[in-house]
Amino acid sequence: AYVLMNDDFVSREAARVDIEDRGYQFGDGIYEVVRVHGGKLFKMDEHLSRFVRSTSEIGITLPFSVETIKDKLLQLFELDPLEDGMIYFQVTRGTAPRIHHFPEPSVPARLIAYTKTSARPAQLQQQGVQCVFAEDIRWLRCDIKSLNLLGNVMAKQQAKTAGAYEAILHRGEMVTEGSSTNVFIVNNETLYTHPANNFILNGITRMTILEMCAKLNIKVVESTFTTQDLLEADEVFISSTNIDAMPVIQVDGRPIGSGKPGALTKAIQREFEQLFN
Ligand code: PDD
Repeated sequence: AYVLMNDDFVSREAARVDIEDRGYQFGDGIYEVVRVHGGKLFKMDEHLSRFVRSTSEIGITLPFSVETIKDKLLQLFELDPLEDGMIYFQVTRGTAPRIHHFPEPSVPARLIAYTKTSARPAQLQQQGVQCVFAEDIRWLRCDIKSLNLLGNVMAKQQAKTAGAYEAILHRGEMVTEGSSTNVFIVNNETLYTHPANNFILNGITRMTILEMCAKLNIKVVESTFTTQDLLEADEVFISSTNIDAMPVIQVDGRPIGSGKPGALTKAIQREFEQLFN
């Protein structure tokens, strides 16, 4: 297994970062997860543009051009090819004596990447999953794919403790997204999802689903909805790089719709199958 560390490809054992790396001390960095399906990278360019946007929003200067980063990720993928799994990559503001403001003089940002094999959760995708509601206690720039994931970690743990698959976050009454997913509800054959603003991460999978809906002539409304709307919806599903569209059949112990994956959710899942083939 290889790890990309800026210019070098090193073994997993040799990959080491300093205790004063700002990612380690402050969560001061950005990451991406790119899906590999059947040996092919999925939506790499979209992930790279979101990566560039996130880094520029927090003032990290990337060590290479986006083209070079892409080349390096493809080289890593050649060294460590896989059928199903992901490429994880992240950049931190670099290593400098610990002080909150940006290092002066500036230090080079540290880019790392590695691949990991993981299977798609096919059975759950067919059966659907249970979720719980959790208060969204994160900061107000959830559009940035930051390494600071404490709010997400705490919410996911809440789900895990409750024996649920995901925590559906809400600010007051308003549903935002999942701890590591976007959230969709279906009512009268119309799809609703939170607008892409500072309260959610605009998922690459979310954008893919919106494109699919345009193609399938499914009406989409990007607007906020409440926890009550969600409980009363015909269908609910969540999306991310790891799960495509995952049916949600129960929230806080209450069945959604028929308590089985819905027709529109399944239509979107079929679109993903086509995309991957
Ligand atoms: N999570 N919202 C949040 C908070 C996320 O962390 C993610 C992805 C998404 C979905 O984004 P995308 O469709 O681009 O994967 C939405 C990744 C997979 C993770 O943290 O592992």
